[in-house]
Amino acid sequence: MKKCSHFFDFLISHAKIYGFIFPSSEIYGGLNAIYDYGPHGVELKNNIKEFWWKSMTQIHENIVGVDSSILMHSNVWHASGHVDQFNELLIENKDSNKRYRPEILIQEYVDKNFLNDPKKKEKTLSRLSKSLKKRDLLDIKILIDELCICDPVFKRKNWTEIRHFNMMFKIKNGNEKDLYLRPETAQGIFSNFQNIIRSNRMKIPFGIAQIGKSFRNEIIARKFIFRMREFEQMEMQFFILPEEEMKWYEYWKKNRLKWHLELNSEDNKKSYKLCDHDHLAHYASVGADIKFHFPFGFQEIEGIHSRRDFDLKNHEFFSKKKLRIFELDRNYIPYVIETSLGLDRLFLAIFSSSLKKEKLKNGKIRIVLKLPYYLSPIKAAIFPLVRKDGLPEIAKKIFNDIRGYHRLVYDEKESIGKLYRRQDAIGTPFCFTVDYNTIKTDTVTIRYRDNMEQKRIHIKEISKIIEQETGLRKILKNLSNFR
Ligand code: GAP
Repeated sequence: MKKCSHFFDFLISHAKIYGFIFPSSEIYGGLNAIYDYGPHGVELKNNIKEFWWKSMTQIHENIVGVDSSILMHSNVWHASGHVDQFNELLIENKDSNKRYRPEILIQEYVDKNFLNDPKKKEKTLSRLSKSLKKRDLLDIKILIDELCICDPVFKRKNWTEIRHFNMMFKIKNGNEKDLYLRPETAQGIFSNFQNIIRSNRMKIPFGIAQIGKSFRNEIIARKFIFRMREFEQMEMQFFILPEEEMKWYEYWKKNRLKWHLELNSEDNKKSYKLCDHDHLAHYASVGADIKFHFPFGFQEIEGIHSRRDFDLKNHEFFSKKKLRIFELDRNYIPYVIETSLGLDRLFLAIFSSSLKKEKLKNGKIRIVLKLPYYLSPIKAAIFPLVRKDGLPEIAKKIFNDIRGYHRLVYDEKESIGKLYRRQDAIGTPFCFTVDYNTIKTDTVTIRYRDNMEQKRIHIKEISKIIEQETGLRKILKNLSNFR
């Protein structure tokens, strides 16, 4: 299916209809850029998390995990530079009161209007890039005026000056200092650095991994779950000898790209690319993005940065605690290579590359979510062919016998054809159907999601097939080979 806005609308609607993602607080009109994960969404999300977590902490014997709090001492965010430097550029339209990021306004204008004039496009974007580098906000404003850019929705040109806008959510904490909702999980790793070294006897090089919520007051939050104000990150900070910075930076860039390619199937290899960062974050000395071909184009899914000793050095200064490695002949602040992956973006990438509309031989269209089996929210479905003659009882017994081992569903609410279609749309790899032959032979039909083929197997084989085909074992083994 072509990646276009029509497909993207279809994807959003599919995610809602089949219980993957709902707009937050929908009964009150929703909340901009905040989403909830439904029954199938949370299963898929948990499977993705489990896979990432095991890839980090099980495959690498020198990476351990942590689960730090969302609210932290406000000095954490002064030390990390987020209070002063975690800013985006903001321009407001005085007539519509809508807020925009000026560089995105210009980029979108140029993409739309200079299609047939590549020279003009290049010249404009190069001027924008130079002004961004020099932080020349006045020139960016002049560019917007020269191009006569209007508010894309309300078509008005009455703009404010451009200013810096801090993206952290501040919360009032009575008489105490203001608190912030964390904008990255990484600081919970840095602030626990000494605790983890001591309690787990870590030796350089080693990593600390964390999965958790982050919050950013995005100026423009859109494209479904791609850019949200509340989202989840899967981050790993890898602590190294300073002189080995580039060795480990290159290692993690390669390793993380391979991980994505392993996760998403063969025909998706062309959907990923690794690009160096144009504009580095305030903490990074060098950085690269892994980009994925989303329905709206190539966009960042994961960042790999060298943060050098930026964070630990600043935390040493602010906390007056020693955050360093003590070895026999040397004590030093280690450098850090960070891998930072957006869980929701990965969810969207996997969901969009798995969702297919297929034309069947009979001319009908089938919608199928071809997720990797180990990520499927439901591993198998058990149906009776008809709701009589004892078939539901046999199917229920099979379901009850193995539900403790696998995530299954039992369903008898519709005709068998409709039951298959529903499981296809959810991404369930196997359906097992109890029919009249089951009574005589203890066999059931297994129906495969991807090619819709069916064959008979013994009831005893059901659990083994699910176990062998849907577990993480095979992919984790592949990953440990290219560590
Ligand atoms: N600790 C480094 C860091 O946070 P980042 O590039 O700002 O780096 C890392 O974010 C990843 O987090 C991004 O590659 C993206 O996948 C995800 N992310 C960032 N902002 C997001 C947002 N508003 N909504 C969803 N995911 C987001």
